[in-house]
Amino acid sequence: MIKDILNNLEILGERILDNVKASADLSQINEVRVRILGKKGELTSILKQMGRLMEDERPLVGMKANELRETAERAIAERVAELKAHNFEKSVKKETIDVTLPGKRRPQGKSHPMSIVLDDLKDIFRSMGYTVVGGPEIEEVKYVFDMLNTAEGHPARDESDTFYISDKVVLRTQTSSVQIRTMLESSPPIAIISPGRVFRRDEFDATHSPVFHQCEALVVDKNITFADLKGTLETFMKRLYGDSVRLRFRPHQFPYTEPSAEVDLSCFKCGGTGCSMCKGEGWIEMLGAGVVHPQVLRNCGIDPDVYSGFAFGVGIERITMMRYEIDDLRLLYENDVRFLRQF
Ligand code: DAH
Repeated sequence: MIKDILNNLEILGERILDNVKASADLSQINEVRVRILGKKGELTSILKQMGRLMEDERPLVGMKANELRETAERAIAERVAELKAHNFEKSVKKETIDVTLPGKRRPQGKSHPMSIVLDDLKDIFRSMGYTVVGGPEIEEVKYVFDMLNTAEGHPARDESDTFYISDKVVLRTQTSSVQIRTMLESSPPIAIISPGRVFRRDEFDATHSPVFHQCEALVVDKNITFADLKGTLETFMKRLYGDSVRLRFRPHQFPYTEPSAEVDLSCFKCGGTGCSMCKGEGWIEMLGAGVVHPQVLRNCGIDPDVYSGFAFGVGIERITMMRYEIDDLRLLYENDVRFLRQF
């Protein structure tokens, strides 16, 4: 009997060592430990047979069993350490960073050509003491037309030109509405520009878009004259297009200025001799301008006998297209990166 038990213990001892060696990961070795040394494990079931032994036979079996347990536990601990070291090495290898690999290139964005122009525009006018102000795109008719001295029935108010939201509210067709808001909110001296989006019921083509951008300018102070307007526009255009450009003022009519002018720029490409850029004219129409109509000042509570002013409005798309010789407005909105990368 005791021989059988001792024999079983020996076989079990060998099997344990084999199983421990064969364990390929931590869960396998844990399984081995539970199966053999656990409470309901194989060692326990062998020891249960001790009851059948003689009293003096038991210590020997007990000693052998303890030896076996100790050997097994040591072997298991060694194997666990080995496996852990192996796991660590594996994960270190997997996570190594090859610092010699080339980095990922992140393409850097660029300013849209209109943004470049707009930034320049703000710089130019800020340097002359102007403040940049904004205004709502959804605007009251009284600011877009009425108070700008644009009578009911004026063609600019026509529904075929203007997006009406209601009788009293429109998508602004011009940034000139900001003139009124500015004069109502502050008193002279005033010197502002106001760039922003405007809306007209135009078909989208190479030179028209139902949504485009303007920049308004307004100066109101004592003794402001047409000469101030001329000087300001000349400075503005020379800073944008270079010192050699000249301006031409043509009489025009706007309800909110008197006198009014349309201002042309000598073609900066051909210098005025005529080319494809200026369609042979030598001049390019740039903007509308004038001396603020006394009625407009009055509408805003400013005494035209004390104060006078000038104003102008310029299309930002127009300036951009001229500057970069872009011949189709739609290129500015399509945002094709092959186009945008060029600026
Ligand atoms: N509002 C005009 C337009 O949209 C441009 C303009 C002309 C603005 C004369 C002005 C001005 O301030 O005085 O075509």
